[in-house]
Amino acid sequence: MRVEVLGPQHDRASFESGVEPLDRYFRTQAGQDARKNMATPFVLVLPTGAVAGYYTLSSTAVNIGDWPDQIIRRLPRYPLIPATLLGRLAVDRRHRGNGYGRFLLADALFRAVRSEIASFAVIVDAKDESARRFYERESFLPFPDRPLKLFRPMADIAQLFQ
Ligand SMILES: CC(C)(COP(=O)(O)OP(=O)(O)OC[C@H]1O[C@@H](n2cnc3c(N)ncnc32)[C@H](O)[C@@H]1OP(=O)(O)O)[C@@H](O)C(=O)NCCC(=O)NCCS
Repeated sequence: MRVEVLGPQHDRASFESGVEPLDRYFRTQAGQDARKNMATPFVLVLPTGAVAGYYTLSSTAVNIGDWPDQIIRRLPRYPLIPATLLGRLAVDRRHRGNGYGRFLLADALFRAVRSEIASFAVIVDAKDESARRFYERESFLPFPDRPLKLFRPMADIAQLFQ
């Protein structure tokens, strides 16, 4: 099992998470986003060569006022706080429940924390309540008034991999 940057050798057509926007993005948009430096898609490749899952990483920034008060108190008063966006994460429905989702998330956090470019947190936009629960179980915290947008501070992620 390997995690690789998406390339032309990966079979995108047969990937099926069952969530139409995530499948459509993977088939039609992910390659373009990579070429135009909008996001880097990573794929989980099984020993058979099948793509079992994917996620994307890119840079983002979050308005200072969007963070919880206890976080703002510790930050300098910059209008935008740099962060890393885990834009999409999906596992093929034929391969769910094997730990691949958690494995891909850990891989994404590891890549984010290894970067030399400063980033205060990893941000995710959960597509629904079920996705929110998945991220909360992995220690992500919701933004106030935005329960489907969650973050995990990079300092916390760094401790995870110490
Ligand atoms: C969410 C998703 C990535 C999880 O992938 P997966 O490979 O099935 O998950 P894992 O096998 O790694 O599960 C890891 C843990 O999370 C739990 N989990 C999985 N999906 C969950 C969900 N939707 N809600 C809450 N917990 C969930 C599992 O029970 C497991 O916990 P355990 O170890 O205590 O049993 C996958 O279900 C998926 O692609 N869903 C559709 C797209 C989606 O919702 N993406 C999320 C970002 S918007």
